[in-house]
Amino acid sequence: MTILVTGGAGYIGSHTVIQLLDDGADVVIADTLENSSAVVLDRIAELTGRRVPFEQVDVSDPQALDRLLTRYDVTEVIHFAGLKAVGESVEQPLRYYSHNLGSTLTLLQALDRHGIRRFVFSSSATVYGPDAAAPAQEDDPTSATNPYGWTKVMIEQMLRDLAAADDRWRIAILRYFNPVGAHPSGLIGEDPRGRPNNLLPFVTQVAVGRQNELTVFGDDYPTADGTGVRDFIHVEDLASGHVHALAHLRRTDEPVSTFNLGTGEGTSVRGLVTAFERASGHRIPVRVAPRRAGDVAVSYADSSKANDVLGWRARHGIDDICTDAWRWQRQNPLGYESLPARRRSARTQAPRRQRYPLLPALRLAGRAG
Ligand code: UD1
Repeated sequence: MTILVTGGAGYIGSHTVIQLLDDGADVVIADTLENSSAVVLDRIAELTGRRVPFEQVDVSDPQALDRLLTRYDVTEVIHFAGLKAVGESVEQPLRYYSHNLGSTLTLLQALDRHGIRRFVFSSSATVYGPDAAAPAQEDDPTSATNPYGWTKVMIEQMLRDLAAADDRWRIAILRYFNPVGAHPSGLIGEDPRGRPNNLLPFVTQVAVGRQNELTVFGDDYPTADGTGVRDFIHVEDLASGHVHALAHLRRTDEPVSTFNLGTGEGTSVRGLVTAFERASGHRIPVRVAPRRAGDVAVSYADSSKANDVLGWRARHGIDDICTDAWRWQRQNPLGYESLPARRRSARTQAPRRQRYPLLPALRLAGRAG
């Protein structure tokens, strides 16, 4: 019995793989490494004492999937793999629709061929759309403001149609609110490529000197301090939600179920910055700019269904989130490429100055640490 984790080298995937291994499960990761690093696999081994089988496979490739599913005794799948940058999806809609919808369809068809019908899907609170109620409940209407969000809405619909047509499927749709934080070891965390789009990775990069200041998108929202309010959920809590969702699929009679994974608490952008300054001891310079297109004022979860049905609840608050995010960023100022000397392999032994144009940031982070 093996759990296939697509996108298992990514941010949420890697944290989930660690918890599955800690739970005694066998796991195989399928990941293209397009938006993740092979270093993650070493870190997972270091943290769990187990080397996870890894297949550099694109789940849009039916032959490669067939080979993988023939080789491993897969009984359950958690599907994280997908493109997720909102702005990029607006510029390249066809790429987003083709990749996210195509890979999920190919994966579901392959699973059906192999008789594997327990499936957990990474959805997003973005499906509550621009008119989202707060707190959001699972049966609220869905919509989206960008192609990335629409791919989530459409894949959810595909999954509901599939479950309605064939009641052998057991599908959990998990709607993540704002995943943040890092493994408490500081060895695994979020490592966005290029300029971060999301708030906390941007803040942590300001703290290590990779960005000069945080731009706050709008301080004229109808909220207590005028900045947007979000439900920031520790990635460790989110990972544990997946372990609970799989356990649920093994015992439920429902072909498809949908769960919000959030804390149920809203924190404002300024509130998060203040909490991070407290956790890190760094002041974060802030510049206020106009609202970002597509942002809602307030988003937080009603997570009572996940609490009641999955027996899951988020345990970490905003202070743990900031402490762990800071430990990760401080220890890895340039993400997975900034390996401490003892970890650097022969392959990465190029002269540091040449490899790391951001050396001043490393020095700054060294002082901060
Ligand atoms: C965003 C996506 C959402 C996606 C989620 C993944 C949009 C509109 N939504 O959610 O579809 O599922 O990421 O994690 O992009 N902020 C700043 N300055 C920054 C960055 C963000 O002020 O540099 C503010 C935003 O305006 C928002 C809050 O911080 O009020 C959170 O933003 P972000 O981390 O990007 O998450 P969401 O927009 O909630």
